[in-house]
Amino acid sequence: MTIRLAVLLSGSGSTLQNLIDRITGKTLDAQISCVIASRKDAYGLVRADKAAIPSYAVPRTDYSTQKDFNAAIWEHLGRHEVDLIVLAGFMHLLEVPPAFANRIMNVHPALIPAFCGHKMYGNHVHKAVLAYGAKITGATVHFVDSLYDHGPIILQDSVPVTPEDTVESLANRVQALERELYPKAIALYAAGRLSVDGRVVHILPE
Ligand code: GAR
Repeated sequence: MTIRLAVLLSGSGSTLQNLIDRITGKTLDAQISCVIASRKDAYGLVRADKAAIPSYAVPRTDYSTQKDFNAAIWEHLGRHEVDLIVLAGFMHLLEVPPAFANRIMNVHPALIPAFCGHKMYGNHVHKAVLAYGAKITGATVHFVDSLYDHGPIILQDSVPVTPEDTVESLANRVQALERELYPKAIALYAAGRLSVDGRVVHILPE
């Protein structure tokens, strides 16, 4: 059965675009039920419109508390049929109701538990990797729990950091990896091949 996704984002939405392209190209058996953005000017909303996906802006700045912001997001999500929620450059904590435990994924542009946590997102991550002098970095897809970049790790892979790298070149290399890992993790989930045991995610054979 085709898995139904909700995509939450805050920015340009290239992660969303990759999923749209994979679905259109029939290399990912999924449908996107809705897109929710935490900023009105998120380009991801334009991408959703172009793909005729229902989309909503739920600006974080419209809510005085994290709790109210989360309530508004869950209200929108509740109006759609959703099997799995996919965070795609969503820069806020999403509260996880018990019914969605291990049904929300995030992609992070580093090898968790390095270079992650609150305010460590997007190019801030690559800047920190370069400043630290790390020789490898990578991407992580993980289930979402109540902390930033913390839940059980589903897939991880690495890329080299070279002496010539800039934030931009490193971001490009890592994002190319993300574009492979995220659809792969979603397909594994859809196939019922992810089994979570505490922090450890087992990938079951086909
Ligand atoms: C992606 O690289 C994603 O890994 C990162 O934000 C970027 C979003 O790009 N997410 C995080 O840093 C989460 N901690 P996009 O808006 O073009 O999809």
